[in-house]
Amino acid sequence: MSAIDLKAHIRSIKDFPKPGIMFRDITPLLAAPAAFRESIRLLADRYRDAGVTAVAAAEARGFIFAAPLAIELDAAFIPVRKPGKLPFDRRAFQYDLEYGSDSLEMHVDAVKTGDRVLLVDDLLATGGTMQACAKLAELAGAHVVGCAFIVELTFLPGRKKLEGYDVFSLMQYHDEN
Ligand code: PRP
Ligand code: MG
Repeated sequence: MSAIDLKAHIRSIKDFPKPGIMFRDITPLLAAPAAFRESIRLLADRYRDAGVTAVAAAEARGFIFAAPLAIELDAAFIPVRKPGKLPFDRRAFQYDLEYGSDSLEMHVDAVKTGDRVLLVDDLLATGGTMQACAKLAELAGAHVVGCAFIVELTFLPGRKKLEGYDVFSLMQYHDEN
């Protein structure tokens, strides 16, 4: 349980980035140290005894939460990046967007067989980003402990796409209001 109302630190912005979309803006939470700290503490408490050896997240917003969480769990932090950013040998996973496709990459030596990886992102929408992270971890031989989010949009099929994984979110929005 949280003593802090985390949702009070999420700003909703109508029609961004396009008409009909309500954007859930995490920047007020990041600007409030007590709320930001509480969000990391809640995630850390949930996974503290899960034997997590690495915390992986996709740039950019996933990094913000995954890095402090990795330190808190005494685990490695693994950056999953957009194409062409990682300097060493890497593996790519392509995933579908509403129109077209996108790709995410992970260094080939980032996780090893037997690693227990916790995946983190700020937001669960369609689940494409998180699914790509999970596939990259599994292709490297790791076990995915769970998929953790700050905000979940429950009216989108993200959780369904991540069926089979332990999915957890700190806040849920059930519609665009
Ligand atoms: C946003 C958000 C999640 C993803 C969620 O990232 O930070 O990573 O979308 O959507 P999905 O569940 O449909 O995949 P975005 O790609 O906009 O980039 P950013 O993190 O670099 O801002
Ligand atoms: Mg993102």
